[in-house]
Amino acid sequence: MVIQALLAASLALTPIPATTVQAKIDCSRVKCLALTFDDGPGATTPALLKTLKRAGAKATFFLVGKRVEQRPEIAAQAVAEGHAIGNHTYSHASLPTLLEDEIVEEIRTTQEIIQQATGQQPTMFRPPYGHTSDRVLAVADQNELAQVLWTGTTLDWQLRDAKKIKAAVLRLAKRDGVILMHDTVPATVKAMPAIVKELKKRGYHLVTVPTLLGGKGPKPGVSYF
Ligand code: NI
Repeated sequence: MVIQALLAASLALTPIPATTVQAKIDCSRVKCLALTFDDGPGATTPALLKTLKRAGAKATFFLVGKRVEQRPEIAAQAVAEGHAIGNHTYSHASLPTLLEDEIVEEIRTTQEIIQQATGQQPTMFRPPYGHTSDRVLAVADQNELAQVLWTGTTLDWQLRDAKKIKAAVLRLAKRDGVILMHDTVPATVKAMPAIVKELKKRGYHLVTVPTLLGGKGPKPGVSYF
């Protein structure tokens, strides 16, 4: 009994690596696509998680620190359901305009908040607005973070229409692609059941970014996509 209790305690304390690769899916053999959602967690994130769960799809969420503070349980739920998470700064600042100390603060605070909420320390980071620089990438490297950009952006926040967002995703979808959307845009969440259905029909496996990288990444200080 004592051994079991100790074992349970040590398991509870063991941090789960945020890069957990989905078992069974080998993107060098099958057609994969990574759906990524920025700026959450938000009020519409639980509905999105429900859609993804129902479809057996995995995604990657780039979380904003101050929003994780407001909804830590949704960040934890995303992790528990097998999605990957990344750091999207604390205040959604355009990082290259900040002083070095401020960039460090944006990244580190968010690492801590996400760790506290989910038990995981992100290994990926996405700069808000895609604004980055050598200085930003160096800070990411110092914090053991890979920079993850995208191959296609839907501009869903601008479209704000489920049909248009669906059309944008289908146009941008390609093998090993990384699609940028926002779980904070209600029309995106509304469009998602039809999007995942169509993507699966087209033969895509919807995977996390670490699964897409197939164990070759994410590596700290490296910029992807
Ligand atoms: Ni963003």
